[in-house]
Formats: sequence, structure tokens, C-alpha cells
Amino acid sequence: MKALKGNIIFTASSEKFEVYENSYLVESEGTIVGIFKELPSHLKGIEVDNFGDSLIIPGFVDMHLHAPQFQNMGLGLDEELLQWLEKYTFPEEAKYSNEQYAKRLYTNLAKELWRNGTTRVSLFSSIHRNGTEILMDVVSRAGIGAFVGKVNMDRNSPDFYVESTEESLASTEEWILATKDKYNLVKPIITPRFVPACSVKLMKGLAKLSEKYNLKMQSHLSENESEIQWVSELHPEFGSYTEVYDGMNLLTENTIMTHAVHNTPEEIELLAKRNVFIAHCPNANYNLSSGIMPARKFLDAGIRVGLGTDIGAGHQIGIYKVMSRAVQSSKMNWLNSGKVERCLTMSEAFYMGTKGGGEFFGKVGSFESGYSLDALVIDDENLGDRDFRSIEERLQRFIYCGDDRNITKRYVAGKLLSEPV
Ligand code: GUN
Ligand code: FE
Repeated sequence: MKALKGNIIFTASSEKFEVYENSYLVESEGTIVGIFKELPSHLKGIEVDNFGDSLIIPGFVDMHLHAPQFQNMGLGLDEELLQWLEKYTFPEEAKYSNEQYAKRLYTNLAKELWRNGTTRVSLFSSIHRNGTEILMDVVSRAGIGAFVGKVNMDRNSPDFYVESTEESLASTEEWILATKDKYNLVKPIITPRFVPACSVKLMKGLAKLSEKYNLKMQSHLSENESEIQWVSELHPEFGSYTEVYDGMNLLTENTIMTHAVHNTPEEIELLAKRNVFIAHCPNANYNLSSGIMPARKFLDAGIRVGLGTDIGAGHQIGIYKVMSRAVQSSKMNWLNSGKVERCLTMSEAFYMGTKGGGEFFGKVGSFESGYSLDALVIDDENLGDRDFRSIEERLQRFIYCGDDRNITKRYVAGKLLSEPV
């Protein structure tokens, strides 16, 4: 058992922050026992890591990141999605057939995740099985919790970066068998890239693998207008992009659909009915001029929404930067909706980037008892005077104005993480 002592702040619900000033966050075997102003007598004598006036917050949860696009961060962001994929993304991802390259770049990514306080992440790898296993090894060694997906693509892809349907399904199953029980905090996830790049046979086969091995799934949905038009041309037999995935059995309570910028009320209703998670990636939606995602519509429909960096369409690794972008995006959405769809509050944005996305990983993203002790210590001394600001204001200031230098400690499941090497 041990305790972290400091100014504890988190969101048990999206409506408000819970604040415990100068208190003890107590864990046992990686799980939170409770928060105490003074340690009760039976806990006196446990190890205490005292962080003084620092903030203690839940670790960040990134629901969507393309690991082999890390080296492309910030490049080609004057393009739209489909051109950007052709020109920048597929050529870079194809390089991950080279295992040395994969190991070097994935290690750099793990360092940046560590630096920026991402404690749980759902990753897209490339189509390469070996590269995907290297990514799983690297992330596991870093102590970060992750779902990692070998990407599947068997149509409408460049000839240097494509698989046959049979090859794609066979290597995916071999990879699942090799990795599903190999790690404690890292698990495989089924990852069809998106409808344009996956045949019906492939998508249905992947849904079967998900069922057979009880695996989660992730893909992209309705990001860009040309993409949506293309899906409607490929699948006139379905009424919408969302219905295509539903027809392939890919929409479940264990599925993350990313983006969801342009969806009809009927599609939102279907997503709610299937109880999927949505990964909201406002940085990427701005960078590729995909559009302003109406997060409020999804929340009002009762849909679970988390945040994603969507590296490399997104350009910032820190989920705290995606939180502030989500609020900015919601303000534009408010204006565009005739001031009807309310902006996100800071507590809603923080919830999305912690407990909201964390639910995909289990009891993650909150400091309620029974949750995994995934925590960050934030020293905000350089960000301004601390005496005249509440704990909540200091957290807001870190989210908007802080950076990785303010994050001084990272814990996952109670374990202090050291910098990945
Ligand atoms: N849709 C299909 N593939 C991708 C990708 O790599 N990034 C983004 N942003 N959207 C996609
Ligand atoms: Fe993406």
C-alpha cells in the first residue's frame, strides 16, 4: 500500500470536478482504496509520496493514435484526408516493414507518450505483423496500458501497401494468438482501417475474429465529405456509412469509431443503440479541414465520447492539448448551430480525456475507489501565482498553457513509470 499526497482533482462525472486539497490518495496493489484528508489510524505508517502543493490528476487516455505516423507529425496538414493519406501517410506506414525502423521510431513514440502523461492509449499500428508486435513490446516495456491493432487493408490501397484478403485475415489471426495472453496491460484490438480500404469479406472476417477471441475493435467513421461520398458509391446497398459497419457486425459496445464529424440523426441513433465509443479528434478535424464535430449531439444521445490525438493528422501528443481543442471546437459548433448546441465545459472535456475514454480500458480514468491508480503529478509553479487560484483554475491553466515539463510523475496501476529507453 502507498499514498500520493497533494491537491487531488478528477471528474467522477462530466458535470463537475471533485477536489481534495492537500489530501492522501491511497492505493493497494495498483487499485485505489480511497482519498483521505488525514490517514486513518489503520493506514498510519504506509509509504507516502508527498508532492506538496502539486496537483494530482488521473493519467490521460488517448483513444486514437496511429503509431507509424509519429514521424509525420506536422507534415502535409495543408491537405485534405484522401490526398494526405496517399501523399504522406501510406508511404510512411509502408516503412514499418523494416523492423529496425519500427523499433527506433516506436521507442521515440513511447518516450513522447510518457513525457506527456498518456497512461492508456488505443493504437493503430501498420499492416505489418512483426512491426505490430514490436510496438506491443515497446509500449508494454514502457508500462503504458494499450490496445494495439494490426491494420487491415485489402482494397483501394497503393500496391506497395496492401494485403490480399486471405493474407490479411490469416496474419491477423496468427498475431492474435501470439499476443493475446502475452502482456498484462497491452492487448490486441481488431483494426479494419476504414470502409474504403476493406472489402466486405475482410470486414466480416474481422468481426468473426473479434467474436471468436473476444477482442475489441476500432476504425474510422465519417471524417471527410469526399470519404463519405466514396463509401456511398462503394456501398449503394446501405443507407449510410454507419449502416455499412453495422452490416459487417463491427458496431458493438466494444468498438471505438473515430471522428464522426458528419453523421445524420439516424446514424447517431444507431451508434447510440449499438453503444459504441466515439473518439473525438478535434486537432485532426481542424488540420485536415474535415469539419467541426458536434460533440454535444453525441453526448445528448447518451453516446460515450473520449478524446484522441489522431497522430499524425493531429499534431500534439498531449491529451491535455486535445481537451482545450475540444472546447474550442465546441464553441465553433455552438456558433454554427445557431447557438443551440451548448459548448463543452472544462469538466466535460477533462472527463472525456480521462474517465470517458478510460471506460474502454476498464476501471480507468477516475480516482473513485476500485479504479486503477493511473495518475500524474503536475507542478504548475511556472504557470503563474498559485496562491490566488483555486485548484480547478490551476488545472485549467495547465490544460491551456502548460506542457510536458509540468508533468513530474506518471503512475500506471500504481507503478511509477520511468522514462522509456
Ligand atoms: N482514415 C483512414 N485512415 C486514416 C488515417 O490514417 N488518419 C485519419 N485521420 N483518417 C483516416
Ligand atoms: Fe485516425
